[in-house]
Amino acid sequence: MSEATKILVTGGAGYIGSHLVVALAEQGFDPVILDDFSNSRPQIRDRLQRILGRELQVVAGDVNDRHTLHALFAGSDFAAVAHLAGRKAVAESARQPLSYYRANVGGTLALCEAMAEFGVRHLLFSSSATVYGESAAMPLREDAPLRATNPYGRSKLMVEQMLADLAVAQRPADKLWRIAALRYFNPVGAHPSGEIGEDPLGEPENLAPYIAQVAVGRRQRLRVFGNQYPTADGTGVRDYIHVMDLVEGHVAALRYLLSEGGAGYFVWNLGTGCGASVLEVIAAFERASGRPVPYVIDAPRPGDVASCWADPRRAQRDLGWRARRTLDEMMRDVWRWQAAHPGGLGS
Ligand code: WQD
Repeated sequence: MSEATKILVTGGAGYIGSHLVVALAEQGFDPVILDDFSNSRPQIRDRLQRILGRELQVVAGDVNDRHTLHALFAGSDFAAVAHLAGRKAVAESARQPLSYYRANVGGTLALCEAMAEFGVRHLLFSSSATVYGESAAMPLREDAPLRATNPYGRSKLMVEQMLADLAVAQRPADKLWRIAALRYFNPVGAHPSGEIGEDPLGEPENLAPYIAQVAVGRRQRLRVFGNQYPTADGTGVRDYIHVMDLVEGHVAALRYLLSEGGAGYFVWNLGTGCGASVLEVIAAFERASGRPVPYVIDAPRPGDVASCWADPRRAQRDLGWRARRTLDEMMRDVWRWQAAHPGGLGS
């Protein structure tokens, strides 16, 4: 039997990364995890092996550590890299900008240099809708104006620009780089097994995990950040996408990169194309869980936009991929995960 195609997944022990590892393995690839476990728990490996029924290679290390990268690439013949390792909290990035630039920009630079040295030139990059400016018109298309408004978003935008330069600056001797920047909207949900899910360390910044922790009694109530926005019910509107749809979009993009030669830098929105308000998410979660979610209306959160949702047609056209799971299915899977693990993976 031919050796399965090895894919390095940096950040593969994290929320999105662990779900990507499952999707890759289920579609016949051989994922290898590199993760520094700064925002994930060691128990994830056993959970993944239980879901997949197979051993996984997991390397604990920092993507900024060139010795770790050299040893990893020297020891494995990777067909591609899915680069999800990075820091992702908007508010924290304003408090610690240098650590965000080091992790997100420095880490990608170190990774690309190691890839170049070992002739690995297929790369999926975990980008974000945060790179679009606040004034961009909805729905967001990939050619909308780019103007990040915080160090996290700027670090993602800098990486996109670095990768776009890399994909065209080809020395003839080099095999040609094929790179995809995948702009995530709002990933939520969990693998249907309930074995893995979003498990933020400390108080959740994002809506879905906070709601889930209120429902299991870990938090007293949800604060709804503003209800005076120019939206149907006054609360913020976002494009929530099931994490399994998101990672299936990654596999579709990977197959696109591997399917033909020729240099290229490609950008795809990974969203549903539908917006949902905070109150709609709360209602969907209450339907899915049968649990009330007490909340209070609080002041708007600095930096939040009123509405943000994707135009996903380019990915549908190029990749034959579209998000299929509904908001109710997302909340059903969030609840199954949280109800089974009230304290998260560490519980
Ligand atoms: C969603 C909505 C809040 C929490 C962020 C990052 C983005 C991406 C996803 C990394 C908003 C409201 C939230 C709460 C609330 N991360 N809310 N009470 O801000 O759209 O996107 O996470 O790539 O880059 O910016 O997601 O889940 O924080 O907020 O009312 O306790 O829920 O105001 O309208 P956001 P979110």
